[in-house]
Amino acid sequence: MTSFLHDPHPNPTPAARRAELVADPQFGRVFTDHMVSVRYREGAGWHEARLMPRGPLTLDPATAVLHYAQEIFEGLKAYRLDDGAMALFRADANAARFNASARRMAMAELPEGLFVAACKELIRADASWFPQAEGGSLYLRPFMYASEAFLGVKPSAEYHFLVIASPVGNYFKSGAPAVSLWVSEDYTRAAPGGTGAAKCGGNYAASLAAQQQAIALGFDQVVFLDAAERRWIEELGGMNMFFVFADGSIVTPPLTGTILPGITRDALMLLARDSGLTVREEPYAIDQWQADSESGRLTESFACGTAAVVTPVGKVTRGAASFTIGAGGPGQVTAMLKDKLVAIQRGRAPDPHGWVDKI
Ligand code: PLP
Ligand code: COI
Repeated sequence: MTSFLHDPHPNPTPAARRAELVADPQFGRVFTDHMVSVRYREGAGWHEARLMPRGPLTLDPATAVLHYAQEIFEGLKAYRLDDGAMALFRADANAARFNASARRMAMAELPEGLFVAACKELIRADASWFPQAEGGSLYLRPFMYASEAFLGVKPSAEYHFLVIASPVGNYFKSGAPAVSLWVSEDYTRAAPGGTGAAKCGGNYAASLAAQQQAIALGFDQVVFLDAAERRWIEELGGMNMFFVFADGSIVTPPLTGTILPGITRDALMLLARDSGLTVREEPYAIDQWQADSESGRLTESFACGTAAVVTPVGKVTRGAASFTIGAGGPGQVTAMLKDKLVAIQRGRAPDPHGWVDKI
């Protein structure tokens, strides 16, 4: 199924208002005029694919997602290239991860071609919503929730898949050169056998109390440690972590099932190897991070993700102890990898891995 029914929009946003909205959109507050909606029912399969005006959903109060949180989502960006073309970055990888999340949450899988087609359908309809400013993009949020109205605890027999789009600028409002991190000792995000590797809303709900503490204390983001030993660095609430050493090697925590297999993480590992750096996926302990920062063995650290792109870490606080990474600002390797990634995403550099899909 690749054809979408089109419901005409009765009153699309006037061009002047749209220009105002996309001038400085920040992250996730401005939305385009349309959305894609596809329904699933056991027996009937996927059906009723529609491009329609973006608007509220009407839910029965017994809808399963409202009670048992059977819900997954994705986040990917579409770019307006210098030649005017629109392109998606690694949407096939997001489609595959969406289905991995669906399997973990006992939800219906969505044909990967339908996931990508839905994203493209929405981008074409809302092509006038790309921000002009450098660094701007159209952030797509595909998601799926359990839509059956039933209070028994079981996988839903019905699902609703939607894609919405949001013109975005930088994820971090401050535009600061480096973020400050706070290591949570009260909370963990995901345990072995849990849902840490799935992009399900529950993981983010579980991260919010820690994030609230971090913000109250004046930090930007939380570092989560592993749930079993409270020793190994896992990831931030919405970003993977990388550590850069003076000997030119890079370390990122391995995919053990408790962290999200980030697509930016994967891309940066490949780009780092292409650049001659040694990349290791191995556990890295919080004490070691502090010791290596203090000794100078570690020179840089950064977080990465679709929304945050590549974000340097300046300072880390754990209880009463704080340590500074490198000189506290963006480092050279971080900047080099970010530039390489962004150049490919924007069509300004060759795309040796076939990541950019022009629409
Ligand atoms: N880790 C978490 C918990 C995330 O929410 C994200 C964002 O999607 C990432 C890592 C980075 O993943 P990606 O690079 O695929 O956006
Ligand atoms: C993303 O980077 O796409 C994310 O999903 C992170 C956050 C906005 C939840």
